[in-house]
Amino acid sequence: SAPIRIAPSILSADFSKLGEEVRAIDEAGADWIHCDVMDGHFVPNITFGPDVLKAIRPCTKKLFDVHLMIAPVDPYVEAFAKAGADLISFHVEAGPHAHRTLQTIRGHGKQAGIVLNPGTHESAIEPLLDDLDLILLMTVNPGFGGQSFIRSVLEKIARVRAMIGERPIALEIDGGASPETAPLAAKAGANVLVAGSAVFKGGPAAYANNISAIRKAA
Ligand code: DX5
Ligand code: ZN
Repeated sequence: SAPIRIAPSILSADFSKLGEEVRAIDEAGADWIHCDVMDGHFVPNITFGPDVLKAIRPCTKKLFDVHLMIAPVDPYVEAFAKAGADLISFHVEAGPHAHRTLQTIRGHGKQAGIVLNPGTHESAIEPLLDDLDLILLMTVNPGFGGQSFIRSVLEKIARVRAMIGERPIALEIDGGASPETAPLAAKAGANVLVAGSAVFKGGPAAYANNISAIRKAA
């Protein structure tokens, strides 16, 4: 099977020096850079928008994995595409026109991903499988870093892995990933692991060890 990718979430970074933090996780072995965008409407927290993404874009060449926790989505796709997103994911719960949004993202030349909250069944995305590059299964309720991994999502990971079949779709999980939970998610079929608090704990000197601990465990 394909190697596991680790995508540190900059939600857990020190926002007063975000550029340095992005360089530090790049050098520490991050595969992708996970960027959590929250609007205080779709989720009960507010983070950053396309201007911040654009400001940190020169700090790394690694893939910008942009997780939009916003509604509506469509009016902002172009801004995130132009700011330097490589992959743009949005929640199936964010509106009634998920297929249109996937088309919009790909129309801007970006990879398109769809996200499911822990309480959403995978049948919601079955009709979209031929039009997306990534499925992100939330293993916490979105809005905050540092929450506990919801183990009941493991069965959904396995079902979605089976549903993907031979399609070239990445299967990512987000929330509560650690050396303890990463192997459970990987065994169930996830191949991209987002990790916030487990990567950033201990500060820059610890990032490389934190990333490799998750990678080895998975
Ligand atoms: C939660 C975010 C996650 C979060 C993960 O809404 O989408 O990316 O930062 O943080 P940890 O790994 O601390 O659960
Ligand atoms: Zn996220």
